[in-house]
Amino acid sequence: MEQHSRRDFIGWALGGISAVGGVLALGAMKKSWDPLPSVQSAGFVSVDLSGMKEGEMHTVQWRGKPVFILHKSAETPSNDKRDIRIGEKRFVVLIGLCTHLGCIPSYEASSQTFKCACHGGVFDASGIQTFGPPPRPLDIPPFKRNGETIVLGEEGAEYQKMTKKA
Ligand code: FES
Repeated sequence: MEQHSRRDFIGWALGGISAVGGVLALGAMKKSWDPLPSVQSAGFVSVDLSGMKEGEMHTVQWRGKPVFILHKSAETPSNDKRDIRIGEKRFVVLIGLCTHLGCIPSYEASSQTFKCACHGGVFDASGIQTFGPPPRPLDIPPFKRNGETIVLGEEGAEYQKMTKKA
């Protein structure tokens, strides 16, 4: 009798362990099926521009590409087709890939230009090619402005207006 109940107990215990193991395995499988949070939000990147000082240039990653965000200073030439105006402030948002062969240009604050080291291409502060082989300006990523925040990946009215005029 005692033998029987001990066997029952071991059976129950093993069954319980299997059940717990099964639940944990299912949990792990579900986790691997669910997209990662970073993937879910990878298509859209929000950038708060309010803290950027004049002349500051930031690079953010959007869909695996570098995106340049420049807060133009008072001396930086305007470009009505490309400037994002927020009150008195002016910004440009550009995909940081050279339109020649895709190298990443670097920003030179002293000359307010983007210079591509690969073949000497130069772009002005608005992303317009001014020298070398790049065949066209730096591309503007789709963006939407919400106050002083821009969301990369969404096509807002300003983006649509820019790309129509460009
Ligand atoms: Fe930039 Fe050629 S890739 S100039």
